[in-house]
Amino acid sequence: MSGTPLERITAVLGEPYFAADGVHLYHMDCLQGMRRLDANLIDLTVTSPPYNIGKAYEVVRPLPEYLDWCESWLKEIYRLTAPDGALWLNLGYLEIPNRARAIPIPYLLWDRSPFYLMQEVVWNYGAGVHTRKMFSPRNEKFLWYVKSSEAYTFHLDEVRDPNVKYPNQKKNGKLKCNPLGKNPSDVWEFPKVTSGQKRSSKERTAHPAQFPLAVIDRIMKACSDPGSLVLDPFMGSGTTAISALQHGRQVIGFEVSLEYCRLAALRIQAYLAEQAMSKRQIRLFA
Ligand SMILES: C[S@@+](CC[C@H](N)C(=O)[O-])C[C@H]1O[C@@H](n2cnc3c(N)ncnc32)[C@H](O)[C@@H]1O
Repeated sequence: MSGTPLERITAVLGEPYFAADGVHLYHMDCLQGMRRLDANLIDLTVTSPPYNIGKAYEVVRPLPEYLDWCESWLKEIYRLTAPDGALWLNLGYLEIPNRARAIPIPYLLWDRSPFYLMQEVVWNYGAGVHTRKMFSPRNEKFLWYVKSSEAYTFHLDEVRDPNVKYPNQKKNGKLKCNPLGKNPSDVWEFPKVTSGQKRSSKERTAHPAQFPLAVIDRIMKACSDPGSLVLDPFMGSGTTAISALQHGRQVIGFEVSLEYCRLAALRIQAYLAEQAMSKRQIRLFA
């Protein structure tokens, strides 16, 4: 089939709920949508599924059923991923009555797909739940999966941390630190936009589980190339789409809730309008 990847996807799935240059958003169950798409089409998936903890946007299932459901969409993402592609999966915690108050979901899910697990990244979000009888939870995980452990996309220089204490320190006459900055490590500190001081930020939408853009930007820059096709099967407020567009990637998202589809579409439209406006201003003053 000819055409751009997004045109080929439209030919299979029909007209999206929302489309703009480089972005298609489908109001659809992701499993149903993904099952209809061709293999190896996606370069990078970045997503956070429901955690089965009774949030407004999910139906709580018995644990084995929840894990089987996760396995089914993980396997679909694997099938859709290009040979050098990756999945970044954000997971929190769930309760197992009489066994665990808050078990990290990666313990239950990590090997439920043929992906190769490259690394676990800890996202420390700084402020959040206050507790008296245990330490305050302040992290979630990202599992970085690749299809091939030999050939995967990783651009460390794009995401180096310029915040270096002694940037000019030398050893044998050579700079000790990369002038672009240091490796940002596997512990990332980014405030949540749904709690703490960032709650009132301009970035915040009405979605209760919105990703901060800064986290997704790091993944986008490190693990995809300009022009890549990015997927978020649990799109929510559209953070992955905004980040993808900001970095010149194409993006497809699925979302079952009409309310969140509307929210994501409005957010993307506002972003594109802002972009168009700044381009006009640049032309005006050039
Ligand atoms: C954790 S939230 C994702 C939030 C998102 N990362 C953001 O930045 O806004 C999960 C989303 O998945 C959606 N969802 C749940 N089941 C789905 C399904 N089967 N297919 C597509 N979307 C689904 C929910 O409505 C919810 O918006």
